Amino acid sequence: MLLYLHIPFCDSKCHYCAFNSYVDKFHLKKEYIKSVTIQLKKELENLEKKSIKSIFIGGGTPSTVEPCSYEEFFETIKPYLKDKAEITSEANPNSATLDWLKGMNNLGVTRISFGIQSFSEKKLKILGRNHSSRQALRAIEDANRVGFENISIDLIYATTFDDEKDLKIALELPINHISSYALTLEENTPFFGKNELVDESEKCSREFIEKISSNFPQYEISNFGTYQSVHNLGYWRGEDYLGIGSGAVGFKKDKRYYPSKSIEEYIKNPLKKEVEVLTEENLRVERIFLGLRCIVGVDLEVFTQKEMQKVELLLKERKLTCKANRVYNNDFLVADEIALYIIS
Ligand SMILES: C[S@@+](CC[C@H](N)C(=O)[O-])C[C@H]1O[C@@H](n2cnc3c(N)ncnc32)[C@H](O)[C@@H]1O
Ligand code: SF4
Repeated sequence: MLLYLHIPFCDSKCHYCAFNSYVDKFHLKKEYIKSVTIQLKKELENLEKKSIKSIFIGGGTPSTVEPCSYEEFFETIKPYLKDKAEITSEANPNSATLDWLKGMNNLGVTRISFGIQSFSEKKLKILGRNHSSRQALRAIEDANRVGFENISIDLIYATTFDDEKDLKIALELPINHISSYALTLEENTPFFGKNELVDESEKCSREFIEKISSNFPQYEISNFGTYQSVHNLGYWRGEDYLGIGSGAVGFKKDKRYYPSKSIEEYIKNPLKKEVEVLTEENLRVERIFLGLRCIVGVDLEVFTQKEMQKVELLLKERKLTCKANRVYNNDFLVADEIALYIIS
């Protein structure tokens, strides 16, 4: 079992971001955390002790919440954690102070995922980030000093304002993981419709990915590391996850569930959720898409006879590789195209 906790607060809103987060609802933090505990206790009712192998605290910005506010969450979850569980928290450079990092480390967080996006002041400004490159370097250095063995950074690329120094700097840092996302122009964000900001050329993506891969092996379209996140791999293997918090998503067997997106609604009724039932076919297709995007691969049994003919063709063309009755994608960048070709 995996667990995702959503923190829907941010200090400022970045120009590209459509995630469920608010800059003007900090006064609801305390009540929100109370509701998180209520939902968590309910979700844990039928769960075996020592069955959670990873937690991911994401957002929004988890570093907008003081470590002491997470104490009850960690106290409640402790009996359910497997030994050596991976516990990741996202953090932003402006709010992940040395004290915050120490506090989270003391609570048991084992991995920090920093939203860095870029080390270029110009690029940070265009993206609407509220930190400098120097603050970002300081935060990574602090996390390393505090003793986090696993540190990851998020970078945004495939923009028309990319800067070569992003990767030069990133490859020298005391980190073991990079998530790099091609910029997407999301609806209801200031960037929406500004096509001139995106570099869609495959050359740009390939070069960026090749450079990162030289130090950090790619294990999914957007993820690279000498350390591979247990939580990420769990998602891609189709494992169950608890989704705690407004805007979180949970998944169990053949159901996906969604607690209220609105913070106010969630605070009023943290146990309310919308449930989506997935058919066998939904789950099968999902397995193909997820497996081909990363090193997990797809069991041959998953494919229909008709699909197998296309898989065999792709094997001949060396787009896929087969090992022990599983097929693996040789080029994650075209994963969706390959999956669509197979299922169509
Ligand atoms: C949950 S978000 C933010 C985590 C953290 N608050 C931060 O800003 O770093 C996780 C990551 O998604 C990426 N992201 C969000 N919106 C994006 C977009 N429109 N295009 C590309 N990457 C995006 C960013 O790299 C971001 O760090
Ligand atoms: S990228 Fe991170 S800091 Fe920026 S608005 Fe989105 S969640 Fe908040």
